[in-house]
Amino acid sequence: MDARDQPQAEPQKGQKEDLPKGAFPEEFRAQLDLLMRLRRDVRRFRRDPVDEAVLARCLSAIQLAPSVGLSEPWRILRIDSDAARDAALKNFQTANAEALAGYSGEQASLYAGLKLSGMQEAPVQLAIYCDDETNQGHGLGAATMPEMRRYSVVTAITLFWLALRGEGLGLGWVSVLDPDQLSRDLQAPEGWQLIGYFCIGWPEKTSETPELELKGWESRQADLPIETR
Ligand SMILES: Cc1cc2nc3c(=O)[nH]c(=O)nc-3n(C[C@H](O)[C@H](O)[C@H](O)COP(=O)(O)O)c2cc1C
Repeated sequence: MDARDQPQAEPQKGQKEDLPKGAFPEEFRAQLDLLMRLRRDVRRFRRDPVDEAVLARCLSAIQLAPSVGLSEPWRILRIDSDAARDAALKNFQTANAEALAGYSGEQASLYAGLKLSGMQEAPVQLAIYCDDETNQGHGLGAATMPEMRRYSVVTAITLFWLALRGEGLGLGWVSVLDPDQLSRDLQAPEGWQLIGYFCIGWPEKTSETPELELKGWESRQADLPIETR
């Protein structure tokens, strides 16, 4: 039997919880909840390197992600060279200055005080793409909604984000960028669409509160709005 087809674990003798079949124990669920609560978008990194084996373990979470038609459309460029990093940083700085120019008054000063990328410090940097033209999955589900491939990549990034957090690592998503310029600079293949630029490394600190909330830019909603039809 394939290891992935193992029957679901039955509760052990003497186990206190009466779990529905296939459920994970409460202690595990509490830990998972904590992991999700403490996942942060990180922009302030220490410069110490990330062990390659740890990074590889976290990257393997991407392969566990759901994808439309099992198309696995995620494509990753690792940005290591000075030239590629400089191009990405310049791209961000230009886009960030343009974004700042779109605000005025108090909001402009608030925006100017935000740190929106850790590109100058993060030891690992990835540009993650969606291959909009992949044949894998034979177009299932993507014929009517081709954007589903891109959403699949986002689900993969979420798993990667959590896996990193589990190792004590942080990820920062950078989207204040000109994607076409970046793709040209990185020589991304035709048909690949940028999903995001990601800074990865050891965070300076951990927090249960998003940095944008701490800085007074925006706050999380207290409730989850659900409408009924
Ligand atoms: C699609 C996406 C794009 C984002 N782009 C940026 C960005 O360009 N710069 C940045 O500092 N944060 C970026 N973020 C992080 C958000 O600001 C952050 O997720 C939000 O403030 C909530 O904070 P938390 O992730 O720590 O819970 C992005 C997040 C997502 C999901």
